[in-house]
Amino acid sequence: MSRRISWVAILMMALMVLFTVSCEGPAGVDGVDGVDGADGMDGADGAVGPAGADGTDGTDGVDGNMSCLTCHTQANMDMIKGEFAVSGHAAAGALGYAGGRGSCSRCHSAEGFAGYLLGYPGEDLTQKSALSCESCHGNHESLEDGISAPMATMAAINLIVDETTSADFGNASNLCANCHNSRRNGDYYTSVDSLDLDGDGVNDFEIHADSVWISSTHAGPHYSAQVNTIIGLGGYGATATTAHESVGCVSCHMGDATLTQGGHTFDPNLANCTVACHSAVAADFANWVSGKQDAVSARMAAIGDALVAAGAMTTDGAGHYSPARAMVHIDVFEAFWNYRVMYQDHSFSVHNPGYYTSMLATAEAKLGL
Ligand code: HEC
Ligand code: HEC
Ligand code: HEC
Ligand code: HEC
Ligand code: HEC
Repeated sequence: MSRRISWVAILMMALMVLFTVSCEGPAGVDGVDGVDGADGMDGADGAVGPAGADGTDGTDGVDGNMSCLTCHTQANMDMIKGEFAVSGHAAAGALGYAGGRGSCSRCHSAEGFAGYLLGYPGEDLTQKSALSCESCHGNHESLEDGISAPMATMAAINLIVDETTSADFGNASNLCANCHNSRRNGDYYTSVDSLDLDGDGVNDFEIHADSVWISSTHAGPHYSAQVNTIIGLGGYGATATTAHESVGCVSCHMGDATLTQGGHTFDPNLANCTVACHSAVAADFANWVSGKQDAVSARMAAIGDALVAAGAMTTDGAGHYSPARAMVHIDVFEAFWNYRVMYQDHSFSVHNPGYYTSMLATAEAKLGL
């Protein structure tokens, strides 16, 4: 107990001393500055100012793939494949017979035509297939705006029968011209002046200057006589030019397409005749054309009958005439040749009406019709 009292007494005494001796001391050192307070909240946005003047328009960009889609839609490509499927090119009736043979393949198979375009001489081929898209179409040379379909060739051609004469339609029709021109002229037969009938290397007889030996049942310019006919060469008689030369194959045979005519069926569409040229007779142009064709067919049949009588042809009696292997007078031969040019051209005058008139009249005159 006494111990606790004395602690309290000491504390009281100490406090008394403290208070008694305290007086003003020196100023204390300034305290360290406090940390800055957090930023205040942003004020409200000001009112929107007036709109600035419009800038100038930039230049238009390229249309991107819209220009490609004039051709490359699935629908367009499928339609073209459908048309092509009914074309004689796809059917390639003579492929097995002619597609691989050295003298035939340049026109009768995809492989032959590709090799021909690369400059290879005709050789026998084991691989042969029908023409396909790639046979006629190459690769695009550029992908600029407004490009057209890439073509395997559009160069002018030299005629097979006369390398010094060229044909130039100035457009994609030149592609067709590579295959659709004659393989022979009449002089292939008329220039033969002696004959080795049994093939033993010894001439069996001389051919009289007025006579011609028709040496084959296929004699003729070949079924590819279209270009020669259009430019008015290859038959006997007066040549004649036609406005159809400047039209070119593609405008008549392709152009407007249906499932069975025009476009990639390559079968001429009568609608194409009225696009730019024959609008005046549009109403019954089909009639006009077949009327002309029928008249030509009738004159050809009369010539055919006279050629059978002269021994230059044989007939099945149903309107089909084939060459006979025979020695005939030159007049008969010239009539025979004109018949074969017209038959193998197969347009019944449309390709060159004036030239048909001349070939028909010449044949009739030579046969005394
Ligand atoms: C310069 C191109 C060319 C050459 C070369 C060629 N042909 Fe042709 N041939 C054609 C064309 C074009 C046609 C079809 C024309 C038509 O349909 O009106 C055709 C048609 C035919 C046909 C009739 C086909 C049918 O469906 O009626 C036969 C057969 C034929 N050729 C065989 C041959 C043989 C065999 C050879 C070689 C000895 C040969 N061709 C060489 C272009 C050629
Ligand atoms: C016998 C040749 C030939 C074959 C085979 C061929 N084309 Fe063409 N094609 C042409 C020609 C010629 C043109 C027209 C070019 C022109 O007018 O300048 C053309 C045009 C075109 C065009 C552009 C015009 C259009 O109609 O849109 C397309 C796309 C086309 N062909 C796709 C094809 C396809 C796909 C195939 C195969 C299924 C094919 N072609 C097979 C010759 C051919
Ligand atoms: C006027 C029609 C047409 C137009 C436009 C067109 N093409 Fe083509 N293109 C074709 C034809 C036809 C082929 C050949 C088709 C075949 O062989 O199957 C082809 C082939 C091609 C090919 C494959 C062969 C190659 O050249 O490499 C490509 C890729 C191609 N086109 C891209 C384009 C592009 C990209 C555009 C647009 C910039 C375009 N095409 C515009 C018609 C056209
Ligand atoms: C590579 C050679 C080749 C080219 C290129 C070619 N054709 Fe032909 N064409 C032929 C042959 C061969 C035939 C006969 C097919 C068969 O029966 O074997 C033929 C047949 C045809 C036929 C008769 C078709 C039928 O249905 O009987 C027409 C019409 C025709 N071609 C038009 C054209 C046109 C137009 C072009 C150009 C756009 C063209 N051809 C390009 C070789 C060619
Ligand atoms: C003025 C329009 C026109 C021009 C240009 C034209 N043709 Fe024709 N072509 C026709 C007509 C029409 C026929 C007859 C069709 C028929 O009677 O069914 C025909 C018939 C043909 C045939 C025979 C078809 C068959 O069924 O045997 C071939 C092959 C042919 N033309 C190829 C060509 C080629 C290749 C060219 C260009 C060198 C060409 N044509 C230029 C309109 C034309």
